[in-house]
Amino acid sequence: MRRYNLKKTSEYASALSKYIPNAAHSNFKYKPSAIKFASGSGSRLLDYDGNEYLDLSVRSGAMIFGINNAEFNNRYDYIRSTVKKRDIEYLCSEAILRNVPGADMVRYGLSGTETIQNAMRLARAYTGRKRVVTFEGNYHGNHDNILGGRYNPLTLPYPSINADDPHCSKGGMTNALRDGITVLKWNDIELLENFLYMYHDEIAAVITEPIAVNAGSIMPGEGYLHAVRKLCDRYNIVLIFDEVITGNRTQLGSIQKTMGVKADLTVLGKALSGGDLPVTALLGSRDLMRLYENHEVIYGGTYNGYEMGLYAVYTSMSILSDGYYYDEMRSIAEYIHSLLKDSANAYNTELVIQGDSMCASFHCSPHILTSYEQYTNDIIFMDNLLRDIMILYGIYCCRISRMYPSCALCEEDIAFVQNRVGYIMEDFSAVKERAVSSSLKKSYKI
Ligand SMILES: Cc1ncc(COP(=O)(O)O)c(C=O)c1O
Repeated sequence: MRRYNLKKTSEYASALSKYIPNAAHSNFKYKPSAIKFASGSGSRLLDYDGNEYLDLSVRSGAMIFGINNAEFNNRYDYIRSTVKKRDIEYLCSEAILRNVPGADMVRYGLSGTETIQNAMRLARAYTGRKRVVTFEGNYHGNHDNILGGRYNPLTLPYPSINADDPHCSKGGMTNALRDGITVLKWNDIELLENFLYMYHDEIAAVITEPIAVNAGSIMPGEGYLHAVRKLCDRYNIVLIFDEVITGNRTQLGSIQKTMGVKADLTVLGKALSGGDLPVTALLGSRDLMRLYENHEVIYGGTYNGYEMGLYAVYTSMSILSDGYYYDEMRSIAEYIHSLLKDSANAYNTELVIQGDSMCASFHCSPHILTSYEQYTNDIIFMDNLLRDIMILYGIYCCRISRMYPSCALCEEDIAFVQNRVGYIMEDFSAVKERAVSSSLKKSYKI
């Protein structure tokens, strides 16, 4: 098998870039490996040259049913024709709240970015404090007061703001970042404990991804999230779980059910609605949410709670509720992971696959990463290179090296990977040494 020829696909992207910067609607300082797709169905995508890809990106994890899933579409139509408009908000909210421990009430939104902002505003109002603790490598949206910033013991409680930071944008309001957040290291409970001992009076909230997916799918250490919960309780700090990725993806509703830790506020997005229609949800205890009831805190948004979106959420929850698809997705994802690892092994290539298999990442590393510090530029470079080669043989992962399974995956997709992994690893092992010493590395550097 040979690498795909992307002539027409590249030509289309060049034509499009006349109107759309880089022919893409999102950009960080990573090399964009975006391919323009002409069409798709189920687990497969087609580019403008007719090349076929296995879609393990699924719109950054959102499209948990794959592309144009017939079961989803039929159930959606059925629910829309049988559940009255006046009932959908009630039923949808009940279905979500049943699956998020500790949450009594919900408000809807459209993007993770804005809903995280609402969560932080609510926490600041509730506590009367102004600063939120975030963690290196976690991502909570495209907003100036949370995008970027690094831990620096010398500047605490302020984050260090560095132009080389891939999430620090020119034009961003660095004062919002400086005044609004403190950045610490994730998975380091001693650091958090010492910091809160000193600064708890300033801290409104601690916000965290329960699995650090954006930091390379790093799992929380044993007891870490429980210890974070305890510290928040000790100092009356609001604990916010950003489950924009993990919610409805790792299991129905919230991952808090298996982790055994309850957040005070939870943000769901992406897979909540199945990924075609944007819907996010902010969930919390009545104690916090009553600040909206009392009009003490503002929560605005023209499209919040729009019906088509809520029908999609209800459909998505009703299909996923019997658990069958989660088992199926996990088992196919894990099979694909084992194919990649075995083939890497056969070509003497260091490769680990880590994290929950519903949102795992591969890394060209001999060891599982346990901290964001270990996710070095060299690993990111190699991961990106491998991802680019996988794309040229038809396996389309999400940004850097994330692999998101969908309900559309089936046995044929395993065979699709099986037929390609050998070519991928052979090609990768041939180019990697050359690539490290070439100028190519610069284009991946973050
Ligand atoms: C954990 C997490 N939180 C928040 C966001 C922001 O969500 P959105 O892109 O819908 O604004 C993302 C996006 O990828 C995310 O991964």
